[in-house]
Amino acid sequence: MGSRLTRPRGGARAAAVTIRRATAGDAGRLTRLVRRSRAYEGPYASMVAGYRVGQDYIEAHEVHVAADGDGRVLGFYALVLEPPELDLMFVADDAQGLGIGRRLVEHLAERARAAGLDTVRVVAHPPAEDFYRRVGARRTGTVAARPPAVPWDRPELELPVGRGAEVTEREGR
Ligand SMILES: CC(C)(COP(=O)(O)OP(=O)(O)OC[C@H]1O[C@@H](n2cnc3c(N)ncnc32)[C@H](O)[C@@H]1OP(=O)(O)O)[C@@H](O)C(=O)NCCC(=O)NCCS
Repeated sequence: MGSRLTRPRGGARAAAVTIRRATAGDAGRLTRLVRRSRAYEGPYASMVAGYRVGQDYIEAHEVHVAADGDGRVLGFYALVLEPPELDLMFVADDAQGLGIGRRLVEHLAERARAAGLDTVRVVAHPPAEDFYRRVGARRTGTVAARPPAVPWDRPELELPVGRGAEVTEREGR
């Protein structure tokens, strides 16, 4: 990946980011983003080993990328509408903590709302649960482990996206 980004206040950095629909040509870079994510190293590696974000998948679902002014892809999400679920959400390791994940959640909430949804289900990577809570999701349950690919339980959450359910504002912003 490119050089590390400097870390001014998250909101300021994320403001320079644009979100666009992913195209089939993004498949390789989105696949690399998933496979290289440090959050899936060590005990979690089985989940992303061999994982591929394919062109067909990108064309079939709501896949949107966050890119900087140079067009570098810093993160993406994949929203599946049938049944409604946030399937993937990744921010590049060196771009985390800058507000990009929050921007992606705001964007996916708009897309889900436009599709007539009130809530979106999220089955979270355990270390990411507090991120989802921070942006307004609430815990609804636990999805049991499915070894060998997913040998750990995962938190299940619900993200409200209907009218009046704006993504929780960051306090003090
Ligand atoms: C989880 C992830 C998408 C968050 O993206 P991000 O760009 O780093 O998040 P943001 O900077 O927008 O953070 C938004 C808020 O959540 C908080 N937050 C982010 N990650 C958090 C975490 N792991 N635990 C607790 N809070 C977290 C931030 O402090 C911030 O709070 P604030 O705005 O109220 O101050 C990103 O860390 C990531 O890609 N992780 C690896 C892959 C992964 O686990 N994806 C989820 C799969 S289910």
